[in-house]
Amino acid sequence: MSDSRQTRSQTETRTTGSDQPLETTSGETVEETRDEWVEYDFQGEAKMVAEDLDVHYGDDHALQGVSMEIPEKSVTALIGPSGCGKSTYLRCLNRMNDRINAARVDGSVRLDGKEIYQDGINLVELRKRVGMVFQSPNPFPKSIRDNISYGPRKHGDIETGLLARMLGRDDSEAERELVERSLKQAALWDEVHDRLDDNALGLSGGQQQRLCIARCLSVDPEVILMDEPASALDPIATAKIEDLINDLAKEYTVVIVTHNMQQAARISDQTAVFLTGGKLVEYGDTDQIFEDPRSQRVEDYISGKFG
Ligand SMILES: Nc1ncnc2c1ncn2[C@@H]1O[C@H](COP(=O)(O)OP(=O)(O)OP(=O)(O)O)[C@@H](O)[C@H]1O
Ligand SMILES: [Mg+2]
Repeated sequence: MSDSRQTRSQTETRTTGSDQPLETTSGETVEETRDEWVEYDFQGEAKMVAEDLDVHYGDDHALQGVSMEIPEKSVTALIGPSGCGKSTYLRCLNRMNDRINAARVDGSVRLDGKEIYQDGINLVELRKRVGMVFQSPNPFPKSIRDNISYGPRKHGDIETGLLARMLGRDDSEAERELVERSLKQAALWDEVHDRLDDNALGLSGGQQQRLCIARCLSVDPEVILMDEPASALDPIATAKIEDLINDLAKEYTVVIVTHNMQQAARISDQTAVFLTGGKLVEYGDTDQIFEDPRSQRVEDYISGKFG
């Protein structure tokens, strides 16, 4: 019997006096967590490393002491019941919580070994390297083409228009190539190549979400954070996004929040389970987490007993 199994039986014998296991308000059995459940051994390099991350929103302690290494060029799924801090954690990885006045972040996050929570970090550059795709597709009310080229123009990577032409710095050809490459990478090119000047808001929800992924790719990110990117989509659009995520992981480091366990099991290499109180409870190979979790609460969660 492994150590963790012993813990499990100890947990099961903890009672309230009425011979019922102690439970939290969400229906979870109380269990002592173990540090080794979140120590994940993997091959290859860590792209990002979080250490002792705590996030407070005012007095609300939303994330507690999360330490986690994210392997490069793979898909890491974050799962757990509503309100357990998944989005909060994801936003720590590109300092999006900085935009929330009430949020206070303590701890460390390193990208390629370099601390992102230090003075002097260029947040625009950070968010270019660590891009984000949100739950609801949020294209700009502009043409499909402009949605893609907006970021590279803002970063000064491409210049177009009259002034650029007059100065001999017209990158229109580079822009065309970038738009095509990004849309192809996001598996959208075939559906939109003949209407690049149409308004992006005329696309279907699934197409809009792939456009947002293309927009994220257009600035050459290294890490792509996705917060439930397919939750508003139908099964066919969802399958397209899942295929795309698998392809992206060959070149990019993908971190995805999902409420859909089957989706996490299908697309991710490793899975991190967050539970009530903003704690990372277990982290490991996706197969191990779904087939042989070490935490009883994780087993209860993935078998649908709560959450
Ligand atoms: N902007 C905010 N201001 C105040 N509290 C917040 C804010 N965002 C999140 N919280 C609180 O932090 C906790 C964690 O929220 P978070 O959104 O990270 O959870 P989640 O796991 O992503 O949930 P869901 O699955 O519902 O998206 C919750 O108690 C939530 O109410
Ligand atoms: Mg969330």
